[in-house]
Amino acid sequence: MNQPTGKRDNSITLTINGQPRTLETPPMKRLLDLLREDLHLTGAKEGCGEGECGSCSVLMNGELVNSCLVPALQADGATITTIEGLAIEEHLHPIQQCFLESGGAQCGICTPGMILATHHLLAKHPQPTLAQIQEGLAGNLCRCTGYIRIFAAVQSCAQQSSTQGDTPCTSTSSGTSPSPSASSLS
Ligand code: FES
Ligand code: FES
Repeated sequence: MNQPTGKRDNSITLTINGQPRTLETPPMKRLLDLLREDLHLTGAKEGCGEGECGSCSVLMNGELVNSCLVPALQADGATITTIEGLAIEEHLHPIQQCFLESGGAQCGICTPGMILATHHLLAKHPQPTLAQIQEGLAGNLCRCTGYIRIFAAVQSCAQQSSTQGDTPCTSTSSGTSPSPSASSLS
């Protein structure tokens, strides 16, 4: 947490998808609402609103968080990556492409969170076992796919990354990985 000392106003500064932003916000406003209402980044979805479903997942300083549980003040000074920050110009991110090709997305409510959870997983485990995939996505619920195609999408992306000999599944549109551990994969 990067809580400023002696802070008197309601402004916070954070980096969203590679862009620095300063915003006026009630300190206890949820990061999810800040993203959706103030920044119009509607990729993060509200499912349960209680930290149980993962549909609101974003990366905060490289860690996967439920943005419905993060007060805006806690995000002050943080680096945030949302699903909008993964695509590289007009091209889908490799993880998005794998979900598309594997049928890992149906209604799409869980998909942004699933993809960010996959990004976080592959930064830590470039070639994850099925058990590591299941554990890495355990905080993200899907009511449509039965998970099999989602796991297949993750395996496909890991396999492509291995075949290509680089780490495309941990890149972002800003050209850097939000994960501290991802730099060790290059
Ligand atoms: S809406 Fe945040 S975890 Fe469900
Ligand atoms: S695709 Fe519908 S909840 Fe996962």
